[in-house]
Amino acid sequence: MKFFIDTANLQEIQEAYEMGILDGVTTNPSLMAKEGITGYNNILNHYVKICQIVDGPVSAEVISTEFQGMLEEGQALFDLHPNIVVKIPMIPEGIKAIRAFSDKNIPTNCTLVFSAGQALLAAKAGATYISPFLGRLDDVSSDGLDLISQIRAIYDNYDFDTQILAASVRHPMHIVHCATLGADVMTAPLSAIKALAKHPLTDIGLQQFLADHAKGNA
Ligand code: G3P
Repeated sequence: MKFFIDTANLQEIQEAYEMGILDGVTTNPSLMAKEGITGYNNILNHYVKICQIVDGPVSAEVISTEFQGMLEEGQALFDLHPNIVVKIPMIPEGIKAIRAFSDKNIPTNCTLVFSAGQALLAAKAGATYISPFLGRLDDVSSDGLDLISQIRAIYDNYDFDTQILAASVRHPMHIVHCATLGADVMTAPLSAIKALAKHPLTDIGLQQFLADHAKGNA
């Protein structure tokens, strides 16, 4: 499973990159705003900075909600850097845009996916990635992980190339379950990725090893 980081924070992207486990980055307009990145040119420059840190797919989201606007915006984003993936919302106009980009071999990430039917439609349109939002489904008493397994079954039935990019991942067990269910990619905040490394028995065991070594070498 590929590991993407879900942030627009350059320090966090750098830290995940230096861990040696980072395959790509996802952003969205909320994450850009959280970092105080506003204004068209600043936003474009920020995407370039992210691409300079990570040599892997970087999802950059369009703001337009109609077909022509998505095409123009998406093309401008893709022209910034060859690693840009145009992120497009799961709406009927978005499906048309995904098809148009797919026909031009421009990679897309269909975002805000909350049902298997939406995932099927995006795959039919030729999306490179689809982003089911696990945490937000869990928030409304739905089962985000169940959606991942439904989509996995559908894509395997028909050999769709579209990759399942599990998003809105909130904690380390989400990541482990995504890997168990066969998500192709997961994107998570740095805190959830780092939490994978933590185990109290590891800490206790290490303390004991170091204490025993110190005793033996006193
Ligand atoms: O990848 C989508 C993500 O940014 C949404 O996460 O935690 O706001 O639901 P969250």
